[in-house]
Amino acid sequence: MIETICNAPQPERERKRLFIKTYGCQMNVYDSERMRDLLAPLGYELVEAPEGVDLVIFNTCHIREKAAEKVYSELGRFKPLKEEKAKTGQPMTITVAGCVAQAEGTEIRRRAPFVDLVVGPQTYHKLPELIASVHRERGEALNTEFEVEKKFDVLAAPERQADSVAAFVTIQEGCDKFCTFCVVPYTRGAQWSRPVDQVVTEVRDLAARGVREVTLLGQNVNAYHGAAPTNDAGGGAWRLGRLVRHLAKVDAIERIRFTTSHPKDMDDDLIWTFADEPKLMPYFHLPVQSGSDRILKAMNRSHTASEYIGIIEKLRAVRPDIAISGDMIVGFPGETEEDFEATMELVRQVNYASCFSFKYSRRPGTPGAAMFGQIDERVKSERLGRLQALLADQQAAFNTSMVGKTLPVLFEREGRDPGQLSGRSPYLQAVHCDGPVGLIRQIAHVEILAATKNALSGRLIDKDSVAA
Ligand code: SAH
Ligand code: SF4
Ligand code: F3S
Repeated sequence: MIETICNAPQPERERKRLFIKTYGCQMNVYDSERMRDLLAPLGYELVEAPEGVDLVIFNTCHIREKAAEKVYSELGRFKPLKEEKAKTGQPMTITVAGCVAQAEGTEIRRRAPFVDLVVGPQTYHKLPELIASVHRERGEALNTEFEVEKKFDVLAAPERQADSVAAFVTIQEGCDKFCTFCVVPYTRGAQWSRPVDQVVTEVRDLAARGVREVTLLGQNVNAYHGAAPTNDAGGGAWRLGRLVRHLAKVDAIERIRFTTSHPKDMDDDLIWTFADEPKLMPYFHLPVQSGSDRILKAMNRSHTASEYIGIIEKLRAVRPDIAISGDMIVGFPGETEEDFEATMELVRQVNYASCFSFKYSRRPGTPGAAMFGQIDERVKSERLGRLQALLADQQAAFNTSMVGKTLPVLFEREGRDPGQLSGRSPYLQAVHCDGPVGLIRQIAHVEILAATKNALSGRLIDKDSVAA
């Protein structure tokens, strides 16, 4: 009798279509991939267009007002899509995840009542259960039976990050710094580090599936304090430098990067790792936000401009070719022309390979929002214009300095033109050149012949050493 049941033809699992729109930082990109993995065993398949899908996830960012407002205008576009889908007798479940979900909670459903589910970044593991409960309320069943072996099939499935040559791995989440302009400590919570063993398992798994470069992610990644591996008699916690050197032992991983760091958590061991560990790429993102000590104090950054410059000098002493990138905010409350000039001076001193720059955005609930001396938007725009012109010149000069050099390029994909490949230099620049597809996932040397603002192009040097 039992046999008959087991051998009975099983109805094919219902295919459901999932659309994910990701905003904000790389951690959101990573989280979106995890959500996709988590939902795959329930029959959800990721698609590229939102029309007619069963489940929509907006993975949102709250960092600046514009980022948060964009979510509401995008959500508005989904209302008619949801109504259209309802005509087919099937619901479209709309989920808002990420930092707007965490920060605004029920406000989202007040402004957009057609949203079905709001999930903060710390509750993604409950997503299947939460979606099922939304469906139950509608009187609909959803298959949430989790067959363990299926789950592991899915984790090993070729589509999960395996096409990519470079992957993100979150090793640290949250922030205890409370810079006075920033929402992250409120949306991502207190600082927390993943244990070393867990990180190693994930990196080995990615390596086995073809990944060659990992970028370790954290809102304060260099504050990493992960529990030591179980076989480490010393126990305690490992800092980031040690973790990087340990991960470098995974043979198939050729390149390691990490982002984003805070000047306060920079230790000498990590600085030396840039010199000692060839797999750690010579590109380092270290936000400073301002060059004025007065503004840095008001921002609660807990470092001065000269301490920041001191770190950059140490890094350049041990790894002379290191490329520095950063983040800047102009127009923080109280910023005078003199303060802004100090920022310009710091930029001239550092000479960035690339740098993000933003107008200060007043975020409700942060101390900065309540400060006196808010700066006029026109002044902010004018300062941002001057800063960005300087940064653009520096970036162009950095890229142009590569012309004539030969760089090891990790090839990631075919380029836009036939026969072209696209990869990355050690300094994270996009590099294009003609070459055989067999080079994808490999590092080969490229002589750089031309540079634009955002990319390099050149000639493959050692193509004969690899099979076409
Ligand atoms: N340490 C973080 C920073 C996250 S926010 C990290 O892991 O990346 C990224 C950048 O956004 C910040 O470095 C800062 O330059 C900018 N930013 C944050 N809050 C802002 C605000 N209220 N207005 C303008 N820019 C802001
Ligand atoms: Fe925000 Fe400052 Fe924390 Fe970075 S260090 S996430 S800017 S509070
Ligand atoms: Fe944005 Fe949240 Fe990342 S606010 S920058 S998505 S941590």
